[in-house]
Formats: sequence, C-alpha cells, structure tokens
Amino acid sequence: MAVLNVNIDHIATVRQARKTDEPDPVWAAAQCELAGANGITVHLRQDRRHICDRDVEILKKTVASKFNLEMSIAEPIVKIAERIVPDQVTLVPEKRAELTTEGGLDCVKNRKKLADVVKRMKKKKIIVSTFITPDADQIKASADLGCKAIELHTGMYANAKGERAVNKRLDDLVAARDLAMELGLVVHAGHGLTYRNIIPVARIDGICEFNIGHSIIARSLFSGIYDATCEMIDLLMQAQTY
Ligand code: PXP
Repeated sequence: MAVLNVNIDHIATVRQARKTDEPDPVWAAAQCELAGANGITVHLRQDRRHICDRDVEILKKTVASKFNLEMSIAEPIVKIAERIVPDQVTLVPEKRAELTTEGGLDCVKNRKKLADVVKRMKKKKIIVSTFITPDADQIKASADLGCKAIELHTGMYANAKGERAVNKRLDDLVAARDLAMELGLVVHAGHGLTYRNIIPVARIDGICEFNIGHSIIARSLFSGIYDATCEMIDLLMQAQTY
C-alpha cells in the first residue's frame, strides 16, 4: 500500500509572509501525523524562503514518523543534513528564481558531486532518494550512484492537458517504475499531485510513497490540516482498493 508524506513547506510560507512565528510548521507536522501520514517532508532551500533551520532542528526531534528532508546538493545544505540526520534525504535541483522545484535533478551531469553526497549520507545511515524525471538515464545513474530510492517527478503528468497527453505521461511513469524496480530501486513520486489527479498515479503498483504539499495545504485553509491529510490518505486507499 502506498503511503503519504505531507510536504509542509507552505505552512512556513504563510509564516514567512510576515516573518513572524505563526503558523508553526511543527504544529502542522503533528496534525498530519495524527491524521495518519507516513511522514513529513520539508525543503530547506538555500534562500530559506519558507522552511528555516530552526524548523528542521525541531522537526528532527518531534517527527515520530519518517522525516524526509528535500535538499539541494549545495555544500552548506549537505553539512546541515549530516548534522541533523533526517530519516531520508530527497536530492533535488534548486534555482533561486524558481517558484517551486522545476525539473528533476540531473544525476548524469552531477554524477561526481552526487557520488560524494550519497556516500556521506549513507555513512550517516540516511536513506537517499533522487528527485528525477521519468527518464531511463536518470534512473540508471541513480542506481549506479547507490541510491536506495528515486522520486519520480509527476509535474509533467500534472500539467498534461487532454486524455492522450495524460495517458502518455502515465505510461512514462509506468515505464520508469518498471526500470527502477528492475534495478532494485524503491519508487516514490511527487510534485503537482492534487485531490483531482492523484487516483491514476496512485493506481500504479510499486510506487510506494507520495510526497504531496501544495494541494493539501491549500485545502487545509478550509478544512484544517488534519482533515485535509485524511482525505488524501482516503484517496490513496481508494485508488489501491478498486
Ligand atoms: N516532491 C519534491 C521533490 C518537491 O520538490 C516538491 C515541492 O516542494 C513536492 C514533492 C511537493 O510538490 P507539491 O507541493 O506540488 O505537492
């Protein structure tokens, strides 16, 4: 059964809009866990636009489920991960001007730096996942680097318009899942997933972990984060039951 990690970055976005102390992502994490989330995901960006060092420090101590840190491979961030020791790191590309993570990490181009980061994370017994597009070369490079998991970028699926385009993106995810599993990788997925588009992806057997943020936090404004988390978990279960 696939599980849900809630990405709580945008709770911190609201706090940072006023540079104050509320809403606290630490409170949000506890509510998500009470609602049955498998884990909590945060992205400590280099510009600290939402999640801050203090959040990561406290969440490491308070998250009772899986604590998944999304991070770039920039050296100062790698050093923080070595110190904090989250349960899992998901390595992502990062551009300062982007609104959200664009594209996947290029594991072929960044092979040398990645080899060093993967080795350092493994030394700390941290699960390493790479956030990549559903592309054979990226999957093979992640396996060669010794990563335990990959997170398939579902943004192209989420942005696809029309049945044909959507089905093509789903086929890409299925092919990527097949290759990844053949190479012994654990398969996660995320980005752009919503209450409206999750079901077809959740029906892909073998994708065992979803990282979902914006849609859950958006809904939580109206229904509260506990209920918003429960609703997404219900959809994952429905998708896998019928
Ligand atoms: N997975 C990764 C690697 C991401 O960078 C993000 C965005 O921070 C997500 C999942 C969550 O995406 P969304 O907020 O669109 O659900």
